[in-house]
Amino acid sequence: MNKNPIGIFDSGYGGLTVLKEIVKQLPQYDYIYLGDNARSPYGTRSFETIYEYTLECVKQLFDKGCPLVILACNTASAKALRNIQQKDLIKIAPNKRVLGVIRPTTELVGKLTKTGHIGVLGTSGTVSSNSYPIEIAKFFPDVKVFQEACPMWVPLVENNEFNSIGADYFIKQNIDHLFSQSNKIDTIILGCTHYPLLIEKIKKHLPPNINLISQGEIVSGKLSEYLTRHPEIEQQCSKGNNIEFFTTDSAENFDAAASIFYGEAVHSKHLSL
Ligand code: DGL
Repeated sequence: MNKNPIGIFDSGYGGLTVLKEIVKQLPQYDYIYLGDNARSPYGTRSFETIYEYTLECVKQLFDKGCPLVILACNTASAKALRNIQQKDLIKIAPNKRVLGVIRPTTELVGKLTKTGHIGVLGTSGTVSSNSYPIEIAKFFPDVKVFQEACPMWVPLVENNEFNSIGADYFIKQNIDHLFSQSNKIDTIILGCTHYPLLIEKIKKHLPPNINLISQGEIVSGKLSEYLTRHPEIEQQCSKGNNIEFFTTDSAENFDAAASIFYGEAVHSKHLSL
């Protein structure tokens, strides 16, 4: 049987925060990371565009042999995953699988809240999809979910402004809006893979004793469980401790910024779509 790397996809750099945790937990596998930097951010784009771009990138990872692709992007998971799983896979790659980051988070989050009020911070695309409230209701029907779209946060991160006074301004504004919907929120999901870079600033503007959920560890734990439950997929994943990075934009620019997200130097190659 042919064995190939696991594909990890994000609109740009954010998925590197997820890849970092996956590699920590599952270092034995090979990975191919693809960032669609040439067309990011996805968060403010239409459903049709996000679906089209995501599907194109998933196909690229399939062409590279990946038997399993993780959409390490909430926006793509919210807007494209269901269509890809239900309509496209059967036509393009019936034996391959695509998973997202929203389901693993929602399966867990209801166990962490005491007040039953959960906040979700995400891109406009993720929030308008209502994916988090819909998915959380399946597992925890009594939990109330309050959402806030933070359209400025990804540009702040992508433009290396995450430590600036400007970042404080927008983060405080969005957190205040979230808590104006409910002052009982005790658990907040960082529903965008870029946001872990803003975590210190977010904590600074939160009330005390809030559970702040980053997805990296949750997604890597759930991936590990998935591979155990699905030996037919696991057996197609190669194990050579190797990671390749691809970006649809300039590899030089990607490498310069990626280490902030990944925590170590990254050497990428350009991929033309
Ligand atoms: N990192 C992506 C997410 O998790 C969003 C970035 C973007 O808007 O492209 O939603």
